[in-house]
Amino acid sequence: MEDPIEHRRRGVLWLNRWEVRPRDTGWAISASVHLDGPKDADLNPAQRPREPCWMSLILQLDLVKCGIPRGRITRTFHPKRDSGLLRCRRKGKQMKRIAVLTSGGDAPGMNAAIRAVVRTGIEKGWEVHGIRHGFAGLMAGVSQSMGARDVGGIIQHGGTILGSARCPEFKTEEGRLKAVHAIRRLQLDTVVVIGGNGSQTGSYELDKMGIPVVGVASTIDNDLYGSDPTIGVDTALNIALEAIDRLKVTASSHERAFLVEVMGRDCGYLALMAGIAGGAEAVVIPEAEPEPEKVANDLRSAYERGKGHAIVVVSEGAKNNAEAMATFFREQKDRLGFELRVTRLGHVQRGGAPQSFDRLLATRLGAEATRQLEQGKHGVLVGLLGGKVAATPLADVVSRKKSLDRDFLELAGILAK
Ligand code: F6P
Repeated sequence: MEDPIEHRRRGVLWLNRWEVRPRDTGWAISASVHLDGPKDADLNPAQRPREPCWMSLILQLDLVKCGIPRGRITRTFHPKRDSGLLRCRRKGKQMKRIAVLTSGGDAPGMNAAIRAVVRTGIEKGWEVHGIRHGFAGLMAGVSQSMGARDVGGIIQHGGTILGSARCPEFKTEEGRLKAVHAIRRLQLDTVVVIGGNGSQTGSYELDKMGIPVVGVASTIDNDLYGSDPTIGVDTALNIALEAIDRLKVTASSHERAFLVEVMGRDCGYLALMAGIAGGAEAVVIPEAEPEPEKVANDLRSAYERGKGHAIVVVSEGAKNNAEAMATFFREQKDRLGFELRVTRLGHVQRGGAPQSFDRLLATRLGAEATRQLEQGKHGVLVGLLGGKVAATPLADVVSRKKSLDRDFLELAGILAK
């Protein structure tokens, strides 16, 4: 753990776990800090992270951007009350240094989000640094300063220019500590994490360790609490639909049934929506998985009703995924009426160019991430709720599960007639 005195010498005083967060947003701490009480050693959180602390800090605050007339005020904060991380800056202009990274499975629109974070951050007068390969890059402590031109011409591209990774080491306390030290070494103030479920769990842990983090909801699975649609799901859905439309053409020519497996890990959103919008005869999702027997009956019934082809959309997370289902059906070929084929869309769904919805969503959420930081907020996920950009505490994001709207399931059954 670095020495607080050293930090002060560099103009930044870090007190892990404690934070002064004035209720009114937009208060920037810009004046000198008087420590009233303990010695420097007492301030090192690595030594005493959770001890009750009687220390009070008298901070001179420069009130900005909160509608209160410019002026100085002296307020006393008690770290026990104002929990979190205390970050005090020495008098004088200090530029905010923020980092942005993409983590987990890539999603179409991540580039648009990076672009929005970089450009809105620069607009606020901050330095923006890109971290390559997600949390793995953060632990390695390599960052690269990004300018407006560095994110030019990327909004229309899928994937992520920063690269992404799954990082098992970051799930350990040791791994996260590595990242904390790297962030301190790089003198980064905050991190914006663009990613899905696993990534935002990492964000939450990092934020708890005293690094202010804002998450941006991005995953094709759409399984993240805190955002109705996540960045990438719309494009992935369109790719699945294009594939289903094509499969229908060849299925009709041969009077075949296709089992189409789509991604979604343990969430059936993509499969259900692809089933409804693709006009499927049956949908198999982990949240409400029909027995293969029932699917076989549905196919037979479709055949008997005179359908010339049939599509079953199967979510990869279903107990009986497409392969398991096909094995079951192969043994009962005569029952179905249709000849059967299997198509697994897999990563094809992730690699598309973001469509308009994802570009706009990613742009709005990226911009919101820096807005949250500007207001001194962190430990939140920015997403779209009820059509509006909103921030949800990461504590809720990691502890709550997004539920699937069961009405869609019923609708899928009705429309398959
Ligand atoms: O989380 C997005 C996702 O595409 C899931 O739908 C899928 O289960 C998983 O990632 C695949 O992960 P990987 O790209 O690491 O194989």
